[in-house]
Amino acid sequence: MYSITVLLAFLCCLSLCQATSYPSTYYMNGNCGKSIFVNGDALIKIYTNSYGYGACTINLYSVHGANLVASFYSYYMPSSYYVYPCQSEFIQLGTPGNINMLGNGGYCRSYKPVGQYALQNNGIFTYYTSSTFNLAPSIQLLVSEVYPKNTTGYCQYGRFDCLSQDTCIDESLTCNGYNDCSNGRDEYEGCGFTFTVGAIGGLAAGVFFFFVFVVILSVVCYRRRRVRIGYVQYN
Ligand SMILES: *[C@@H]1O[C@H](CO)[C@@H](O)[C@H](O)[C@H]1NC(C)=O
Repeated sequence: MYSITVLLAFLCCLSLCQATSYPSTYYMNGNCGKSIFVNGDALIKIYTNSYGYGACTINLYSVHGANLVASFYSYYMPSSYYVYPCQSEFIQLGTPGNINMLGNGGYCRSYKPVGQYALQNNGIFTYYTSSTFNLAPSIQLLVSEVYPKNTTGYCQYGRFDCLSQDTCIDESLTCNGYNDCSNGRDEYEGCGFTFTVGAIGGLAAGVFFFFVFVVILSVVCYRRRRVRIGYVQYN
């Protein structure tokens, strides 16, 4: 019984001690013209055009001097239903050398741009609007720091091998619910435990019922022992 308790405590600790880092969130509105330094990964959100007309541009850099990659975590642009091509609003993603990675003149289609875009060491993300209405787009761009493998083909200690495009990410970005590797490998293989509310609830319930079980078992054993001792004394 004692060894089972120790084993369970060890397993609980293993899952709870796994450091998971969730992306910091930055809103486009309020960060126009600013530079954002990505530490691990970051979510850039566009939810409103209420800052006014024109272009809102964010410059993206890596805190650790790594390369950056970007992909769309979610995407909804309402204007594309009634204005085409890109008259009332559009987004642009790229680098200083190529700001049009999503297509010339910007992107305003109703469906999400797929894939991961290599932003190297300076990403540029722009939202442009010329509408007087609040078109309320809902866009989340995930930006992640990626590292090359070393000359012998390994990721540095503490980093996770994406097994695609020779890239490594920080180990803390695995199992955080966001695909930092272009192939999503960081969210499937090797994810022993995911920190969802359900998982934490399940773990807590499991530990609780285990201790209830232990208490009941102890009481039963204690009473049986007393009964046996009483029986022996009676004889
Ligand atoms: C590459 O990384 C691996 C794992 O950390 C290490 O064993 C190896 O010595 C490294 N190679 C070079 C050339 O740094």
